[in-house]
Amino acid sequence: MGLFDFMMVEIAMDLGTANTLIIYNGKIVVDSPSIVARDIRNGKIIAVGKEASLMQGKTHENIKTIRPLKDGVIADFDASEKMINWFIKNIPELKRNFFTPALRMVVCIPSGITEVEMRAVKESCERVNGKEVFLIHEPMAAAIGIGLDVMLPKGNVIVDIGGGTTEIAVIALGGIICDSSLKIAGDVFTSDILYYMRTHHNLYIGDATAEIIKIDVGAAIEELEDAPDDITVRGRDLLTGKPKEVKVSYREIARALDKSIQRIEDALMVTLSITPPELAADIYNTGLYLAGGGALLRGLDKRLSQKTDLPVFIAEDPLRAVVRGTGIVLKDISKYQSVLIK
Ligand SMILES: Nc1ncnc2c1ncn2[C@@H]1O[C@H](COP(=O)(O)OP(=O)(O)OP(=O)(O)O)[C@@H](O)[C@H]1O
Ligand SMILES: [Mg+2]
Repeated sequence: MGLFDFMMVEIAMDLGTANTLIIYNGKIVVDSPSIVARDIRNGKIIAVGKEASLMQGKTHENIKTIRPLKDGVIADFDASEKMINWFIKNIPELKRNFFTPALRMVVCIPSGITEVEMRAVKESCERVNGKEVFLIHEPMAAAIGIGLDVMLPKGNVIVDIGGGTTEIAVIALGGIICDSSLKIAGDVFTSDILYYMRTHHNLYIGDATAEIIKIDVGAAIEELEDAPDDITVRGRDLLTGKPKEVKVSYREIARALDKSIQRIEDALMVTLSITPPELAADIYNTGLYLAGGGALLRGLDKRLSQKTDLPVFIAEDPLRAVVRGTGIVLKDISKYQSVLIK
């Protein structure tokens, strides 16, 4: 134990493409979009998180909104560091501190990340005074957050559909046996919706509107038992240039998202096909667990269940499963040594 260990502040962080969550003292103290707004005249960050997200698509030439993470990894090093710093400094309990405290951090990363990308995450954390930084793979953190005992000699499958990546992993004995990470997730669903609106309704909409459509009437199948009402969408008519509105149903969005969901299904089938037989036997009973914001897509559980003939469960509060798991690991690092990335 180092001299200043008693002063070390412990935090668990899910640094996501869409959302960053931080647990401090057993509580979720940050749950914010991973966005910063920068004044490009002087490079200063003027807003972070929710405040910056409200500026998206509405900025003038001097202000730029940036999402520092892309496809689950850091794309803008400087912006991500400033964002992490801002989030940590604004944790209410730490706000009164004059200096940034030394941190012991557990941070999760996508399972398909390269060595260089992994180092970028670690360095970003070290620069915000992370003295001890431990990394954990997202699907492993999700499994722990869901409440599965990952140390048992028993297979479990996690499908974590975030903003940038979908992570599929078969987990047993505290390790990932086989996995697949693909860059088809929430952001691609949003672009699918933009493209669909342009090509089927001649309507040009912004990212924020496409995101609302996805949440309000997003679906993975065309026959839902609990169908949402159609929504009215406003944007610019591509032919006349005038503002216009159209009604959109969940069935249309299911068609718009179909190809992307098919690619997730394909990756899932490949992962299952390379799963060792003893674990496949376990999975036949345990089924699949869905986490991440994509798990909330209507009918996705049913669609994946039909495709795989396995039971599919949606994690309770799927957007927070990963950070909850990361927080559990932080509380007992010695127990979870084997799940941390060396
Ligand atoms: N009700 C919903 N229906 C469909 N998608 C949703 C819903 N709620 C949130 N999402 C989507 O989930 C995504 C965010 O999920 P999540 O917070 O798990 O991602 P992330 O962890 O930031 O990303 P990643 O793990 O890929 O780095 C966004 O694309 C968001 O649009
Ligand atoms: Mg995530």
